[in-house]
Amino acid sequence: MNTQQLRGLGRAPCTGCHRRSLVIRNVAEATRPAVVSTNGKARAGVPEGTPIVTPQDLPSRPRRNRRSETFRSAIRECIVSPANFILPIFVHEEGSTNIPIASMPGIFRLAYGKNVIDYVAEARSYGVNQVVVFPKTPDHLKTPTAEEAFNPNGLSQRTIRLLKDNFPDLEVYTDVALDPYNSDGHDGIVSDAGVILNDETIEYLCRQAVSQAQAGADVVSPSDMMDGRVGAIRRALDREGFTNVSIMSYTAKYASAYYGPFRDALASAPKPGQAHRRIPPNKKTYQMDPANYREAVREAKADEAEGADIMMVKPGMPYLDVVRLLRETSPLPVAVYHVSGEYAMLKAAAERGWLNEKDAVLEAMTCFRRAGADLILTYYGIEASKWLAGEK
Ligand code: PBG
Repeated sequence: MNTQQLRGLGRAPCTGCHRRSLVIRNVAEATRPAVVSTNGKARAGVPEGTPIVTPQDLPSRPRRNRRSETFRSAIRECIVSPANFILPIFVHEEGSTNIPIASMPGIFRLAYGKNVIDYVAEARSYGVNQVVVFPKTPDHLKTPTAEEAFNPNGLSQRTIRLLKDNFPDLEVYTDVALDPYNSDGHDGIVSDAGVILNDETIEYLCRQAVSQAQAGADVVSPSDMMDGRVGAIRRALDREGFTNVSIMSYTAKYASAYYGPFRDALASAPKPGQAHRRIPPNKKTYQMDPANYREAVREAKADEAEGADIMMVKPGMPYLDVVRLLRETSPLPVAVYHVSGEYAMLKAAAERGWLNEKDAVLEAMTCFRRAGADLILTYYGIEASKWLAGEK
């Protein structure tokens, strides 16, 4: 067979070869002379049947830079550290034991007091020094106007105080929204016609944020998606002298199905309405439509102009494009919330042995960083930090 024929076939049996030994003539290199097999003798160190080919003339071979773990780790573009994590903590005071959350295996409502301190101490021992507090409010304290949200002695405010008393250098974040305290289960006050009132709600969000700052919060985090709340909270904090308290805004928070387990944890899902009070069954008139991308730019511009210090995207894994968008739209730090439903999915697959949990979780964390997130809110905060420290 001559070169011309080889070019046509792309390959040719070589004389005297073993049945499976073929000389492969690279189509792309067809003008170069064919390499002839070494008399059918298998090359050492490769399985019999491995084709013998002319080396490609490649100036660029990206695999050279993936050669060894030493080199891969030397040129890795982003790293994950426990310093990036913000650990959410659920707190209750209906007894002194931690209460498991069925849809979030491994996560508990922590009993206010020693159990909260122990949990945070464990997190700190692995380098996690940031937490966000979510109180489980007893039903009898919930009202349609959610005044418990700014009770100076509410569970949230007491927990903040407890944490700052025990760990002065802990960064304590809060959630600013009415849903854990609202008998209707919405982030804002609901009118009888079923409208979530914007400006009226903001008045109470400001009181809530100020009460959290008075309790010692370092960062208040409005998660309610009312319009104008970042600016209003900034002015309220400044007026009360809290110019050093930061605002982490839930800038692009989507009306997501992935919050289900969280609402189980706090029993905070929207409640059924009645004939004279129509309660919307979902949060779609304030949280963003999952189909929307440009709208996140609008939210980001507003939050930045209103004085946000950190912008957040939520949920996490299905929204990495939005994380990247905020990273490129603004110089502010970007946070991402790896939400309860994402945690539940990983746990469920891991429990069935369908995923390697450690690898899958650390990959998710790395991908948040690659997308541009500085901060990661995750229920895996302690476990991931143990894995990062080399624990099994
Ligand atoms: C409350 C709030 C929610 C979450 C954080 N803050 C629930 C919601 O908006 O319904 C969800 C967190 C999670 O799912 O892990 N405004």
